[in-house]
Amino acid sequence: MKPTERIETERLLLRKPQADDADEIFRRYASDPEVTRYLSWPTHRRLEQTQAFLQWSEEDWERWPAGSYLIFERGAGHRLLGGTGIAFQTPALAVTGYVFARDAWGQGFATEALEAMVKLARSCGVKRLVAVCHPDHRPSARVLEKCGFLLDPDRRDPFEFPNLKPKKRWNALTYVRNL
Ligand SMILES: CC(C)(COP(=O)(O)OP(=O)(O)OC[C@H]1O[C@@H](n2cnc3c(N)ncnc32)[C@H](O)[C@@H]1OP(=O)(O)O)[C@@H](O)C(=O)NCCC(=O)NCCS
Repeated sequence: MKPTERIETERLLLRKPQADDADEIFRRYASDPEVTRYLSWPTHRRLEQTQAFLQWSEEDWERWPAGSYLIFERGAGHRLLGGTGIAFQTPALAVTGYVFARDAWGQGFATEALEAMVKLARSCGVKRLVAVCHPDHRPSARVLEKCGFLLDPDRRDPFEFPNLKPKKRWNALTYVRNL
């Protein structure tokens, strides 16, 4: 087991996903069109899509010092709240993101989880942590700003958000945190 596989914050427990988490991930957030609207991956329609994500996650963890995480509420109940992680592009550059079940919004959980990802990335030797955000997604931009990410004004990369209709490319905002 890698020391990074489990992280605790004041209110959250973040841990590496495992194969038998598929049902709960699917049910809590991955199949919810409202939750996944602005995400870079398509809303899961079948459990196999969640299982494929878990397979990818396992391989990513084998290759790098950290990877994706599930986010649980600490203490009694141990409710699954969402997911986050750092995806290494190179040893010094990683991409982060987050997703929360609807009943977990508006309680500061995303900010708390992202702060944990910043700390983790730094401890793993990452020098530049990047997040991509849809231009209309104010809550997510706010979370990034609260965690010290700065908008890269020179980058407005065309990005296809798979759950938005009509299908088109949006000029996504790129936020960067240098570590
Ligand atoms: C976006 C998301 C992660 C936010 O999670 P959260 O736990 O509610 O975020 P937090 O409570 O930590 O912070 C949200 C901030 O946005 C602010 N906010 C909420 N709605 C807003 C709006 N319409 N305009 C501007 N700010 C807004 C909140 O007031 C809060 O800021 P504050 O602490 O300064 O008051 C959550 O809504 C989510 O999971 N959405 C679906 C998945 C997703 O879109 N992920 C991001 C992809 S880039």
